[in-house]
Amino acid sequence: MKYYIANWKMNMSEQEVAGWIEKYKGEKEKCIIIAPSLPHLHMVKEAGFVTCAQDISLYEGGAHTGETGTLQIKDFCKYCIIGHSERKEDGQTVIKKRDLCLKEGITPILCFVDVNDAVGFYKEGVIMAWEDPSNISVKGVYKPKDSREIRTEINILKASLPNGAEIIYGGSVNRQNIQDLVNIVGLDGVLVGNASLDPDHFYEIRRC
Ligand code: PGA
Repeated sequence: MKYYIANWKMNMSEQEVAGWIEKYKGEKEKCIIIAPSLPHLHMVKEAGFVTCAQDISLYEGGAHTGETGTLQIKDFCKYCIIGHSERKEDGQTVIKKRDLCLKEGITPILCFVDVNDAVGFYKEGVIMAWEDPSNISVKGVYKPKDSREIRTEINILKASLPNGAEIIYGGSVNRQNIQDLVNIVGLDGVLVGNASLDPDHFYEIRRC
């Protein structure tokens, strides 16, 4: 697999991030991308990891208190997650954020729920991340989708998107189901939430 992306969501204090960095055993740049909260992006990058923002502003700059835009993250962030289902954004917002990222040379990791929507969201240079919200872990409890169903949907996605489009999967990815996912031809990576909070667990996933 080409991408193992850790989505830390709104977890971990600065001290916990430092502990994670210290404990992670794997090579830092190899296929793994870390998406911490904004205040920790610098720290994670300085430790040698490839970084990803969890969201960006819809605006390009100016009087927007509390917002952080592509302009501010582009120098130290290669990737940005957009449209995560937890943010409950509409399609137009996601498309605008996608284009803002592409304009600044940031690779959007575009999350979508319905496989039928993928074509409308796709643009060259985007990593497409399929996540069914009913399979996202809740308070550390995994709710994995059957890997046969994932395989079927990935085949449908591959057939509907242009050749070379990169597709990743997220939702309760953990040490128990990663091997089945790695075996799915055409799946380019995984977006890992809860299991990525433990450096040893994430390393086990990465090794598959
Ligand atoms: P999960 O989260 O791995 O905890 O299910 C994945 C995600 O929402 O990106």
